[in-house]
Amino acid sequence: MKIIIIKNKNDVGIKAAELVINEIKKKPDLVLGLATGRTMIPFYRNLVKLIRRNKIDTNNLVTFNLDEYVGLNERNKGSLRYFMEKNFFSKVNLKKKNINFLNGKARNILRECRKYEKEIMKAGGVDLQILGIGRNGHIGFNESLSSFKSRTRNVLLNKMTRKDNVAFFGSLKKVPQRALTMGIATIMKARRIILLASGKQKAKAVALALKGKINEKIPASILQRHKDVKFILDAGAAENLNQ
Ligand code: F6R
Repeated sequence: MKIIIIKNKNDVGIKAAELVINEIKKKPDLVLGLATGRTMIPFYRNLVKLIRRNKIDTNNLVTFNLDEYVGLNERNKGSLRYFMEKNFFSKVNLKKKNINFLNGKARNILRECRKYEKEIMKAGGVDLQILGIGRNGHIGFNESLSSFKSRTRNVLLNKMTRKDNVAFFGSLKKVPQRALTMGIATIMKARRIILLASGKQKAKAVALALKGKINEKIPASILQRHKDVKFILDAGAAENLNQ
C-alpha cells in the first residue's frame, strides 16, 4: 500500500494521469478500469492532455467502467456514460468495441451483470483500476455493508450518495435509487489499483479505509489487503491520517 499526498485536487489528477500514461506506454492494450465523479474531472482533463501532448496511442486501450445508474443510458445527462463521453471517450482515440459499460437500461439486469463479469474475464482481467471513494467509504457503488465477496450487481444507493450526486441531476428526486456496479470482489481482482481522493469531506472515509479495521462497513478498507494499491490524496483528504 502506497500513500501519495499532494497539494490539491488538480495535482491529484495530474499524478494519477502520469501513472496511467506510464502503464499505457508499457502495455498499449492495457485493460483500464474507470470511475466517474467530481474527483475524476481533473484526472480525465490531465489524462487527455498527456495523451495528446505525448502522442500516446490509445487505439488498443480497453476500458471497463465501474458503474451506471439503473434506468439511464448515454442520452441522459446524469448517466455515468454521458459523463465518460464528455470527459474522456469523445476526446481520445478509442475503438468503440473496446469501451465496456454496464447498460442501466438492460431488460435482464442479472444477465447484464453476469455478462459484464464474463467480458472482464475475456479481456484477461483489469490491469489497472481507478477508484474514487464516497464519504461513507464506498468504492464503485458498493455502499457500506456490501459483501467483500460481491460481484457485479444491482444495488440500492444510500441517501448520502444520492445527495452527493444532485449536481449532476438538478434535484434529489431525479437521482436514481439504484445502480449497477462492479462488486468488491470484482474490483479486488484488478492487478493494480489507484484510488484518488480530494477534499476535507473525504478525510474521515480515507482515514477509516487506510488505517481502520478492515470491515464491510467501510468497503474501501478491503483495499488494505490488495497487494498493489496506491492512494493519491490531496492535503484535505489526508487530514485525518495522523490522528
Ligand atoms: C463512480 C464511483 C464512485 C465515486 C465516488 C466519489 O463511478 O466509482 O465511487 O468515485 O462516489 O465521487 P466524487 O468524486 O464525486 O466525490
